[in-house]
Amino acid sequence: MLSLKDILSGGKTAAKEMERGKMKITISRDVDKKQEVLFLGLFEEDKHNYKSFNNKLAVELQKEKTFSGKFNEMHLSLVSDLTCKRIVVVGLGKNKEFNLEKLRGSLGKMVSKTKSLKCSSFSTNVVDLVKNKFDKELLGRAAAEGLLLANYNFTKYLSKEKQEKKRLVSIASLAYPAGDVSFSKGLKTGRIIAENSNLVRDLVNEPANVVNSSYLEKLAKKVAASSGKISLKVLNKEELEREGMGSMLGVNAGSANPPKLIILQYKGAGEGKYTAVVGKGITFDSGGYNLKPTKYIEDMKIDMAGSAVALALIKTAAELGLKKNVMGVMAICENMVSSKAQRPGDIVTAYNGKTIEIGNTDAEGRLVLADALAYTEDKYRPEVMIDLATLTGACVVALGYYAAALVTKDEELSKKLKLAGENSGDKVWPMPFFDEYQDWMDGSISDLNNISQKGKGYEAGSITAGVFLSKFVNTDKVKWAHLDIAGSAYWSVDGAYLGKGATGSGVRVLSYWLLEN
Ligand code: BES
Ligand code: ZN
Ligand code: ZN
Repeated sequence: MLSLKDILSGGKTAAKEMERGKMKITISRDVDKKQEVLFLGLFEEDKHNYKSFNNKLAVELQKEKTFSGKFNEMHLSLVSDLTCKRIVVVGLGKNKEFNLEKLRGSLGKMVSKTKSLKCSSFSTNVVDLVKNKFDKELLGRAAAEGLLLANYNFTKYLSKEKQEKKRLVSIASLAYPAGDVSFSKGLKTGRIIAENSNLVRDLVNEPANVVNSSYLEKLAKKVAASSGKISLKVLNKEELEREGMGSMLGVNAGSANPPKLIILQYKGAGEGKYTAVVGKGITFDSGGYNLKPTKYIEDMKIDMAGSAVALALIKTAAELGLKKNVMGVMAICENMVSSKAQRPGDIVTAYNGKTIEIGNTDAEGRLVLADALAYTEDKYRPEVMIDLATLTGACVVALGYYAAALVTKDEELSKKLKLAGENSGDKVWPMPFFDEYQDWMDGSISDLNNISQKGKGYEAGSITAGVFLSKFVNTDKVKWAHLDIAGSAYWSVDGAYLGKGATGSGVRVLSYWLLEN
């Protein structure tokens, strides 16, 4: 599978670059002591289990009274009579509390420990130890995801010497019984999902002076061409004007980069309705005339994460060969200030004819999604439409980093997305979409205002943003859900298998959901 750099260069990058992040995952009957580091899992309740494996290690652990087997506690052993360089005992916590998310985390920690030991290969028995607790395909997926997501780094702007220090793990060898077809299938699926999540991470981590609308168009073209299973349509400024997408055009008015609506279609089921994924693609969100202050503006290159997920998801669907029709819509704009930029108080007309007063130029995501959602529904008549957006700061306040906010009126869709979130570790959390909020975005001299007109204006910010979007979807005709990934898309803290920075949030939950439904 190609990396972002390979895709853009047509595969002509140096062999070393091509191998970037390409961790090999192998399966062997027993732990493979030829690898440099050996990680042995230990549940809290099984502290004396290693006698049979290696007597010296058991003696050492018994002497070392501090090792308790708590989850992700690590004991670097001094025992050195094996062919591998180092042995590390890894705590797995309580057996009954172990789940697939912990497996991702445990494998992720092994990846980072291997790197910090300046090694590049490891072997472990952990997957084998826990295998009977889980569905084998989900086990394989989680294993590949934990490993490959943890092995990601974004080092291209560092000097060669600094890049060297952040080397990657090249082999992870998992002890596991031979011939388990479901597990192998899970590993393959997990690899596709993880590598596409890493593509999103690359796009989100790239600065806004690189990732602009032309860059994303070029990338979408390469993805479609190299897949051979994806068709592409790009609406440029003139077409957006002709189609009457005044809401989206207003957002881009201050930018030197042109707006684009990029539509990718994957037809895995022949005839039949599409599942549409519509992504917010603000390549930089300065806030516009309602300019963002210092400490809030710096990270706003991430504001295209939703559209990156839309692209990566179609690529994932094609690589998995899903028997479904799936389309991705990337609504690309840049929210800038200039004499041409839109002003607070301006009124624009959206694709569906509704007028919107711009109460705040920084509430731009909903404006681009309004047109993208209404257009997608009108032209493609999808069965389900999911939008993804780094939409509100309120979402980060409410949920932090570890879940996307889910807004929908469709109970069944909500349950399915929540389950896909739990299974994939890319969690979503439903917000109460109460009737009381449904008129909070109504305008006074226009149909709608892009900021809430009730109360102090900021209450239930991620719900009222969802209310606004819902006015551009005929929810009686199409199943619709909105995922606010403002917190989950980009972390400023390290996790067990996802580091600081872009996470690829949205790819895993929606891939799992597509695979299940
Ligand atoms: N892109 C931001 C939301 C955001 C904030 C994403 C933090 C990621 C991290 C969005 O366009 C925005 O500025 N929303 C405003 C809306 C408000 C003016 C109603 C916000 O949340 O402050
Ligand atoms: Zn904004
Ligand atoms: Zn924004």
